[in-house]
Amino acid sequence: MTQHDRLLIIDFGSQVTQLIARRLRELNVYCEIHPYQNVTDAFLSEFAPKAVIFSGGPDTVTRKDAPRPPASVYDLGVPVLGICYGQQVMMQQLGGQVEGGKISGGGGTAEFGRAFVTPAGQPLDILKGWFSEGREQVWMSHGDHVSRLAPGFEVFGTSPNAPFAITADTSRNFYAVQFHPEVHHTPNGKTIYENFVRLAGFTGDWTMGAYREDAIAKIREQVGDKKVICGLSGGVDSSVAAVLIHEAIGDQLTCVFVDHGLLRLNEADEVVSMFRDHYNIPLIHADEKDLFLGELDGQSDPETKRKIIGRLFIDVFQKHANAIEGAEFLAQGTLYPDVIESVSFSGGPSVTIKSHHNVGGLPEKMGLKLVEPLRELFKDEVRALGRELGLPDHFIGRHPFPGPGLAIRCPGEITREKLEILRKADAVYIDQIRKHGLYDDIWQAFVAILPVRTVGVMGDGRTYDYACALRAVTSVDGMTADYFPFSHEFLGETATRIINEVQGINRVTYDITSKPPGTIEWE
Ligand code: XMP
Repeated sequence: MTQHDRLLIIDFGSQVTQLIARRLRELNVYCEIHPYQNVTDAFLSEFAPKAVIFSGGPDTVTRKDAPRPPASVYDLGVPVLGICYGQQVMMQQLGGQVEGGKISGGGGTAEFGRAFVTPAGQPLDILKGWFSEGREQVWMSHGDHVSRLAPGFEVFGTSPNAPFAITADTSRNFYAVQFHPEVHHTPNGKTIYENFVRLAGFTGDWTMGAYREDAIAKIREQVGDKKVICGLSGGVDSSVAAVLIHEAIGDQLTCVFVDHGLLRLNEADEVVSMFRDHYNIPLIHADEKDLFLGELDGQSDPETKRKIIGRLFIDVFQKHANAIEGAEFLAQGTLYPDVIESVSFSGGPSVTIKSHHNVGGLPEKMGLKLVEPLRELFKDEVRALGRELGLPDHFIGRHPFPGPGLAIRCPGEITREKLEILRKADAVYIDQIRKHGLYDDIWQAFVAILPVRTVGVMGDGRTYDYACALRAVTSVDGMTADYFPFSHEFLGETATRIINEVQGINRVTYDITSKPPGTIEWE
């Protein structure tokens, strides 16, 4: 296996630490984020970073027990970059001084938002490409500020409120900035990371091709000659995981695809033909529509519906998985944001690991070990890996689809009739979005069929049919979302098509709720 150079990001709890990792990944640099509590002397020597970055954070170094990295980090002989809180902690540990800033009341140096930095002193290697227009826009977000530099440090950039905006001890390759170069509002921020990793000696060898080779080697080493089960949902993550694992261990992998009768139009056929026919991956197509729809019959409470689906899913998956003799591993498409430990300031490190909704609890119950080959990737990197593995673009770019499927887009009681209508309307809507070239601008788009019939008039006759709601949102991670600003023309055309082409719907509405306060799904 190739050994890549590693960069260590020590997390002090900033909201934007993940963005540092994003910027570095874009530069093909392998990095890991670790909460400061876990970074001990032993950890540092084991990890052997080629460079270290200190993230920002909400605490104040003026507090006695404030988070700090171990002092040994400065003896590693590798470049260190401190950002915001990271700058302050570095200054304090190396003999400088930090003062609390007043947030309001005049005379304070707390600074939030956009600021402009101008150069000071000599040109600095990590600022190559900066100041071509005299000043650079940066994003500040700090209460405290450095009031005296540590010995050996000099100033290389200042802003009206931050005389020590950019500082460095060039003899030791320690760099410390008051602003956040990783955020969008520091437009030229990526250049700083680029210069920093170049001077640290990174060659940018962490590409998707390299990841694929490494991941395959790791899967082979972990699994040996044992068997692996993978629950396929038709979503991008499980699909990419399945194709990657199949490339590593061939027919030792069996996929299980549970059709709960709550899938979109033609979805089951697409998944089966892609995996069984195209990739030749052994696939169990568990047609359990009757079971799921039977148990959901008459249920209208959202939580009850979700619980029924979750329970049946596990039962069905387990039943089929049990039939695969000698299976010891369960594959999951867990992603990097799901496994990053977040820093808690109320106690020890708080680990927020999101277990996969569909098969949560299964590994323990079935005594299976996990294979998670995407644990180091962000969502868009999973898509890049999927392309690398030859998955078609239209498959890779698909919008997320929830485990409980159409059940949560059918408020109230679920009937086969309503599901049929919903599938057709959804297909027309998505077709419209694709035709107008909007699909990739939207995080998720779908139709919800409402538990209400309304009166209409078509061809001189009275209709009494279902109303539906169109939903389309933009989002980065599904945690917050905005409704998509379709043109009136698009909405009008889509409503007409749905009403004309889908029997059973005579009224179309557009959901303009953002999240919060709404959620993306209707249930
Ligand atoms: P909400 O509706 O909570 O959805 O704003 C946020 C994102 O999560 C998806 N979602 C789910 N995905 N199992 C899933 O796999 C679920 O039970 C589930 N519920 C919501 C939703 O589609 C959106 O992308």
